[in-house]
Amino acid sequence: MCGIVGYTGCNNATPILLEGLDTLAYRGYDSAGIAVWDGEQIVMKKEKGQLANLKAIIENEPVFGVCGIGHTRWATHGEPSYVNSHPHGDTKKQLVLVHNGIIENYLRLKNMLIDRGCEFVSDTDTEVVAQLIGSVYSGDPKAAIVEAMRFIEGSFALAILFRDDPHRIYCACKDSPMVVGFGKDGAHIASDIPALLSYTRDVTFMEDKQIAVLSPEGISFFDEFGEWIDKPVVHIDWDMDSAKKGSFEHYMIKEICEEPVAFRKTAEQYVSFREMRLKGDCFPWGDGDAQSIKRIRIIGCGTAYHAGLLGKKYLTTLAKIPVEADIASEFRYADYVFEPGEVLLLISQSGETADTIAAMRMAKQAGVRTIAVCNVIGSTIAREADEVLFTYAGPEIAVAATKSYLTQATVLFLAALRLGQLRGTVSDDEVSALLAELEGLPAKMEALIEQRGDIQYFASREFSARHVFFIGRGIDNALAMEAALKLKEVSYIHSEAYAAGELKHGTIALIEEGTLVIALMTQRHLAAKTASNMEEVRVRGANVLAVTNGRLDDIEGHCSKVWQLDETNELLSPFCAIIPMQLFAYYMAVQKGCSVDKPRNLAKSVTVE
Ligand code: AGP
Repeated sequence: MCGIVGYTGCNNATPILLEGLDTLAYRGYDSAGIAVWDGEQIVMKKEKGQLANLKAIIENEPVFGVCGIGHTRWATHGEPSYVNSHPHGDTKKQLVLVHNGIIENYLRLKNMLIDRGCEFVSDTDTEVVAQLIGSVYSGDPKAAIVEAMRFIEGSFALAILFRDDPHRIYCACKDSPMVVGFGKDGAHIASDIPALLSYTRDVTFMEDKQIAVLSPEGISFFDEFGEWIDKPVVHIDWDMDSAKKGSFEHYMIKEICEEPVAFRKTAEQYVSFREMRLKGDCFPWGDGDAQSIKRIRIIGCGTAYHAGLLGKKYLTTLAKIPVEADIASEFRYADYVFEPGEVLLLISQSGETADTIAAMRMAKQAGVRTIAVCNVIGSTIAREADEVLFTYAGPEIAVAATKSYLTQATVLFLAALRLGQLRGTVSDDEVSALLAELEGLPAKMEALIEQRGDIQYFASREFSARHVFFIGRGIDNALAMEAALKLKEVSYIHSEAYAAGELKHGTIALIEEGTLVIALMTQRHLAAKTASNMEEVRVRGANVLAVTNGRLDDIEGHCSKVWQLDETNELLSPFCAIIPMQLFAYYMAVQKGCSVDKPRNLAKSVTVE
């Protein structure tokens, strides 16, 4: 969604802001703007569309100054346009600000402010905040922010420049992330870590209703009443290169190619491969949990939810425990009554997804234990969940989640294995055998990635498909859901996942001559069943591709093409099977000339409902 950057120090702020906005562009946006103090006044430049449009304007009319804020806007209130782009100011021209989030009571506040004489120029909820702070401002920026925050309902991350105090950036947030850090030439702020990595890896995460004041000399923090507070500095071990595209054409393909390493890095946090055992201390399960946990409820959105479906299978099979998986946006309004012994397992790459955060807070309020699987240290979910199982995917920049899915599945598999070990449903020998097989997976993944030319060729012949169906049973059904999401989000081709056995109950009516059907068949005990379903669609004209790690004679004659995977334990098959699916989505999108890393209408972090 929207992105915020800010800098105050001894260098020219404009290139720093533009570079930061470039780095945050992956979050999705439709307009951009900056405001810089040029020594005499606050100069604003903004423009609809791509950042290149803003850069062209600044090239013609350069802006120099040592303190500034910048923003990429993903429209919520008011269409993408020049007037609705941030920064926004107040009628008395005392301040300008940029905002991420949604102000829920903005109409009520707007009417109140109009009665007080404010003149609005945009349709945004953000301008309401600028006018509100301006209306209570009487020379003390911090006091005005404290006062204004009392009236605002909704979510916000704000970076504000006050005309009377032009070398400082004032920030405040609630339910919307903001990270600050001090580099060698000044203080920086951003809505996401990658934009700070060029300057520092020691950062501080702002929390709800906290205020930060950035000056060229340092950063101070205050609580919602304006009282000074001390905040910890967190070291981020992501490096700059991991957030850059390097020689790859797109982040998505770079991140797919990083999967073997991300997988190994994540697994090594939880497994001693030397001793072929799980590192018991790294899991949230204590001895008592084996009996006291009665049910696990998995929550996530999009790809994270799909990883949760794999987690459900792992936990039921290995730990023999009842598990439900729900989409966060549904779960939060489901009037769900938690039962004693229930644990909520939240899955989120960013740790900032609004619906997942809401589900977590609901559970916490009900006294339910929360455990998160998360990729971003210091994110809201990582901070607020009772326990965290981190994934070590490094920064994921492409909107389409790839390596985060794989590492989430890895952590879920290992957590299920450990719980099964504690519950006595998996023996130590079985654990060692599964870990030995797990250790060999990166080499298999690498081999698949090396052969990606075949998938590229297949995509070059199929990219004009209008509908693609992914079918499978059990784990393959969960995988099919992720494969279909990947394809539709990056290539804009209508794709659907269907439980293979459900086809006959309606969907098969859509199969016509040439419809592409991809059958996932990594579960040997279900292969014959899925083969029958393949045959049912083939005889109705479908062009069937099978992805299998089983025997070819099971499927021969039922499909026109096979992608053969190495044999693995059935539970481990998704780690390899998902890679060709991601590559297929990627090459279909490339063939169609789509904006692979930033698909239309999508944002990397969905920080609003
Ligand atoms: C899929 O490719 C998406 N990026 C999306 O479905 C994503 O997984 C979802 O928005 C959840 O994000 P999170 O993991 O950061 O919570």
